[in-house]
Amino acid sequence: MQRAEVADDPLGRESPLRVRVALDSERVVGDIDRRLFGGFVEHMGRGVYGGIYAPGHPSADERGFRRDVIDLVRELGVTTVRYPGGNFVSGFHWEDSVGPRELRPTRLNLAWHSSETNEVGIHEFAEWLSEVDAELMLAVNLGTRGTREAIEFLEYVNISAPTRLSQWRSENGRAEPFGVKMWCLGNEMDGPWQLGQRTPEDYGILAAQTAKAMRQVDPDLELVACGSSHAAMPTFGEWEKVVLTHTYDDVDYLSCHAYYEPEPDDRASFLGSAVNMDRFIDAVVATADHVKAVRGSSKTIAVSFDEWNVWYSSRLPEQLPRAADDWPLAPPLSEEDYTVTDGVVVGDLLMSLLRHADRVRSASLAQIVNVIAPIAAPDNGPAWRKATFHPFALTARHARGRSLDVVIDTPGHHTAVHGDTPFVSVAATHDPGRGGAVFLVNRHESAAAEVTVELSGALAVLVVAEAVTLHDPDLDAQNSAVFPDRVSPRPNRSVRQQPGALSVQLPPVSWTMVRLVDAEADEG
Ligand code: AHR
Repeated sequence: MQRAEVADDPLGRESPLRVRVALDSERVVGDIDRRLFGGFVEHMGRGVYGGIYAPGHPSADERGFRRDVIDLVRELGVTTVRYPGGNFVSGFHWEDSVGPRELRPTRLNLAWHSSETNEVGIHEFAEWLSEVDAELMLAVNLGTRGTREAIEFLEYVNISAPTRLSQWRSENGRAEPFGVKMWCLGNEMDGPWQLGQRTPEDYGILAAQTAKAMRQVDPDLELVACGSSHAAMPTFGEWEKVVLTHTYDDVDYLSCHAYYEPEPDDRASFLGSAVNMDRFIDAVVATADHVKAVRGSSKTIAVSFDEWNVWYSSRLPEQLPRAADDWPLAPPLSEEDYTVTDGVVVGDLLMSLLRHADRVRSASLAQIVNVIAPIAAPDNGPAWRKATFHPFALTARHARGRSLDVVIDTPGHHTAVHGDTPFVSVAATHDPGRGGAVFLVNRHESAAAEVTVELSGALAVLVVAEAVTLHDPDLDAQNSAVFPDRVSPRPNRSVRQQPGALSVQLPPVSWTMVRLVDAEADEG
């Protein structure tokens, strides 16, 4: 990265940034696991009640699922959905959420100071997931419960032998097991906000015991140990080391969580959020590999980045009910008014995950409906797409096959939060025999970027099928129920192709996708 040289021309226009990128189909980071495009639904705010389930809504089907939301979740393209929390899971009694609805108890949702009617539980959520065509990823409660409840929950969910718990599942309408492969061993267990917060030693021992017991029930599971709640936790790094020292042989993934929010008057750092995500992943991978080396293990731990997004979490405290007699059902929480800038950052974060596709094998956009979400589902109208919807949906659809190593020569600058921050970021994918995609973000707030991309190997014979850009001259532009398409990708007509290269112009603060196809086979 060079420092920026952005000179003004005599007409007062900023001269564009000049950026060179080299891609080669043979320089591969790793195969892209489709689980990278997962989402997260928690019993929080109007995520479940009012979001995916709203029996009184005009679009609801006979089960109470909003069909308008189902359509948009399908379009979003999430491949897995993590459920039922989040912080909620640390107070969750799975038994409350099954059986005849009229017998299910209403409980306090302590994580989000609200009431939980348990109208939607494991059965209903699995049914909803089959509508959106995504895999279920479950979390067990290691906050207020332990190994025994985890293996009973697993037995209920995955076992076909005629035991008391599998028969209870059958009586509740589901003879076939749910067959859930991926399980999180608790959630954010280092967080002081977590019911049942633990030290890394205590959590590591509990997670290892629970993982062993769960594998006795079902040996084919993929298990996720909790990493730090975020990279700024005081115990970050040490937590990962201690937890993995206890659990290394028993788990497959370590979790990462990261939410980004702009500081007042510092859009530049916010636009560089993916720099933080890159460094975060590198640090977790280095720590996991340190434990691997110390143990002399041949096994490699993957990352499950199972909560990531832009989140205006500093606004949450004023939205949360507090009083001892105030436990509303589904209060509106964190229904963010995402701007085009947020959309660009979300696209850039997903590009960071792609660049680490060799180690990040699963990820969950947190969350997907109403709460911290790309989909708004108002009580009194149809669901609509927020600005963050588009880069996720297009990437989930077109980033297939392998993630490629990106060689980039881009100017950059110093930002208050991240230090050296490149202005342009790129991720690229290649699906042999089908095509490829180049994703580009211009983080500069006022200068456009002219990017030349050299294409080698099998990429050299691909042709540009489509180029779209998410951008708005007003960096705070948002979609709304009245103008749901104000911020949406538009064709980028600047793209040019020469033999073995393409060039494209990126407006300031923009996310772009250039899709390449085998001239013989445009799969769309
Ligand atoms: O997604 C909202 C909350 O953020 C989750 O419940 C928790 O895991 C994280 O702190």
